[in-house]
Amino acid sequence: MPALDTREKLAAFGGPKAIARHDPDLFDWPIVTAEDEQAVLEVLRRKAMSGTDVTQQFEREIAAFHGRKFALAHPNGTSALHMAMHGCGVGPGDEIISPSFTFWATCTQALSLGAKIVFAESRPDTLNLDPADIEHRITKRTKAITVVHYCGYPADMDPLLEIANRHGLKVIEDVSHAHGGHYKGRLVGSIGHAAGMSMMAGKALAIGEAGMLLTDDRQVFERAVAFGHYERTRPGTKYCDEPCLTDPDLMKYAGIPMGGVKYRLQQLASAMGRVQLKHYPARLAALQAAMNRFWDLVEAEIPDGVTAHRPPQGSGSDCGGWYFPRGLYDPSKMRGVPASRFCELLNKEGFHAAAGANEPLHLHPLFKDAGCKIEPLPVTESLPGRCFGVPWFKHDHPERIAVYANALIKVARAVRAGEAS
Ligand SMILES: Cc1ncc(COP(=O)(O)O)c(C=O)c1O
Repeated sequence: MPALDTREKLAAFGGPKAIARHDPDLFDWPIVTAEDEQAVLEVLRRKAMSGTDVTQQFEREIAAFHGRKFALAHPNGTSALHMAMHGCGVGPGDEIISPSFTFWATCTQALSLGAKIVFAESRPDTLNLDPADIEHRITKRTKAITVVHYCGYPADMDPLLEIANRHGLKVIEDVSHAHGGHYKGRLVGSIGHAAGMSMMAGKALAIGEAGMLLTDDRQVFERAVAFGHYERTRPGTKYCDEPCLTDPDLMKYAGIPMGGVKYRLQQLASAMGRVQLKHYPARLAALQAAMNRFWDLVEAEIPDGVTAHRPPQGSGSDCGGWYFPRGLYDPSKMRGVPASRFCELLNKEGFHAAAGANEPLHLHPLFKDAGCKIEPLPVTESLPGRCFGVPWFKHDHPERIAVYANALIKVARAVRAGEAS
């Protein structure tokens, strides 16, 4: 730990800034090398952007990475999750249960399938869907539960699957924040009935605008192919060595996508995806070491009030790519200082922080106007004051990460000592 004095006066009150200059090297991502450039150029020079040969290779590799039978590439995470929902049978008159504390694309596509969204509570310790708040929301119209591994933290899949299986529901994982993460030793994206993930340029596994649907269920795969991948519906089209479509009810519409949408991924992203996926485990290990180092330093100094949003050590669970990383904030341990004020003080130190995460979806007028039954979710509504964004370190430079940890320690100490107002 560098000898920076974390007891100095806060920058907000005229003290020196804890972070004198932003350190862009710590955050540089994705790592793009000549290997990515060569792979993309190969597609470009072949003018094969709209083909599927590279995409199919990428699909096989990412399916194998997750131990899944099927992977179907999409132009973005939104469409991949759309097809996970349709694949799982979500349609007109149905309901899905979703957390409200997430990005809209975890659930909003259900509206375009003619279904309604029923929002459920998330927990303040994990920021994830609360399994204890699901069962009383299930009706005879419920088809699926969508669950996001929010801000990297793996959702509590065991009880969610137990409830879903007992009621004959599907569980759809949104893996957009947690690529390569584990839940009790199992890779996220390989646990639910289907999974969708974003791989847009800002994500941990970043390959441009891209998305992936993963499933072991042939019916989910075939329904997704038939809905939005017309070029794979023609007789003789193969997925690995098997026919893409086997269901006669889907095969009869060969050549025209049943959903009237075209969800083929362009191959420049697939080419980059193959290279990024190959290097992902090693790069992820460095990213995880950096994020854990940051939080270990903070938690060694601050007993409570400001804690890491990460699963306990030894649980077999981890935050994968740590997209959109949060700290948990408990105002009752911080002299009642609101998270927004705490973040103001951090920003003055040169530590970029914002209170909350995504705005709770159930408070947005869209869902009520679309006919969803909206109920108050008091826990979810409290969450924007119970968490805050922290820097997303990608590279493990101990001395430089300690500067950021010290800034957080400095502000947390001052707030706890009553020096914040
Ligand atoms: C949780 C979550 N789900 C889905 C998506 C949608 O992915 P995309 O932007 O690739 O459509 C995002 C994108 O940020 C996300 O954060």
